[in-house]
Amino acid sequence: MTETVISHPHNPGLLHMKILENVDLRNFNTFHVSAHARYFAAVSDIAQLRQALDFCRQQNLSFMLIGQGSNLLFKKDYPGLVIELNIRGITRVQENDTHYLLRANAGENWHDFVLYCLDHACFGLENLSLIPGTVGAAPVQNIGAYGVEISECLHELEALEIASGSLRTFSNAECGFSYRGSVFKQVLKDQYIICSVTFRLSKTPRVNLSYHSLKQALKNVPEAELTPQRVSACVCEIRRSKLPDPGIIGNAGSFFWNPVLEAGHFAELQKRFPDIVAYPDHGKVKVAAAWLIEQAGWKGYREGDVGVHREHALVLVNHGQASGAQLYELSLRIQASVQAMFGIELQPEVRII
Ligand code: EPU
Repeated sequence: MTETVISHPHNPGLLHMKILENVDLRNFNTFHVSAHARYFAAVSDIAQLRQALDFCRQQNLSFMLIGQGSNLLFKKDYPGLVIELNIRGITRVQENDTHYLLRANAGENWHDFVLYCLDHACFGLENLSLIPGTVGAAPVQNIGAYGVEISECLHELEALEIASGSLRTFSNAECGFSYRGSVFKQVLKDQYIICSVTFRLSKTPRVNLSYHSLKQALKNVPEAELTPQRVSACVCEIRRSKLPDPGIIGNAGSFFWNPVLEAGHFAELQKRFPDIVAYPDHGKVKVAAAWLIEQAGWKGYREGDVGVHREHALVLVNHGQASGAQLYELSLRIQASVQAMFGIELQPEVRII
């Protein structure tokens, strides 16, 4: 590994950031697969981010951003610059009688931020406890779990336009949120980098128990004890019981989206598979991909170091030394068998590089 030191554009004497060459990304993706970045830079403010982008333009390189790499699968080396977005800091920007506006910079760890909110009596994100990743990555795929999506509490965000280097504020509506999606994954894909997110959080400790398994898990808790802190602890417990800790077993959470089918298509399928697990979704039907994969016989499957988690069929795992290509290969086999059995094409939720 070699280092290139880039100087400040307006003050060449000021050494501003380091660009490393040929860096193994094993510790920058939660699958813990080895893949090499031709160049790598950790940026801790917007000026450094702009410099990193300038470097790419000068060298005619592609770049990609990485937070905690919790939704990524590298199936090969990356030939450009990997930018670790490490901009930190949380600020309370405003409050009224009922709400706080809290701004978190993109490089903050998501779960630590959720805990910070609970410690500071800012409520609304507790159902999203323990989701791996960073604050900046969270709106891109509108992270959601246990009945809540980040879009419900997001006030606005600030993003850097890659082409111009200027900052733009996006209101909640301008983010175009959908199930696991936003404009940053669709029409504005690869055009903006989210630098900070401002949340509108309630001062009232109201809890959301709309998600069946969460409600079940808390059914014996007396009303007075049903606090957001309690919900957060319960969500953590459920997640730990079902989803492997990426610190111990490499994984990226749900590998595929839950497919959303037209009602007619679903009704036909249900005739053939009466036990199929599904939920109404805006006039359509969202099918549990985990159920499909389990029925196709993959749950707990292992071959060498690649496999499917024993407790959750939607989670592909690296038991040790698996390569990204092997994990990808397994994902294709799962897709093909679900297609053959149910006629449904699963789409990866994980970003494949
Ligand atoms: N199920 C099976 N087999 C399994 C696991 C689950 O048949 O091995 C069935 C069960 O009937 C269960 C249903 O699938 O009731 C749904 O399972 P779960 O509650 O675990 O939710 P999910 O739809 O598989 C989604 C998100 C998760 C999120 C949970 C909880 C997607 C793609 N995934 O999973 O998000 O934590 O809901 O809200 O929407 C992630 O995105 O990485 C992630 C983990």
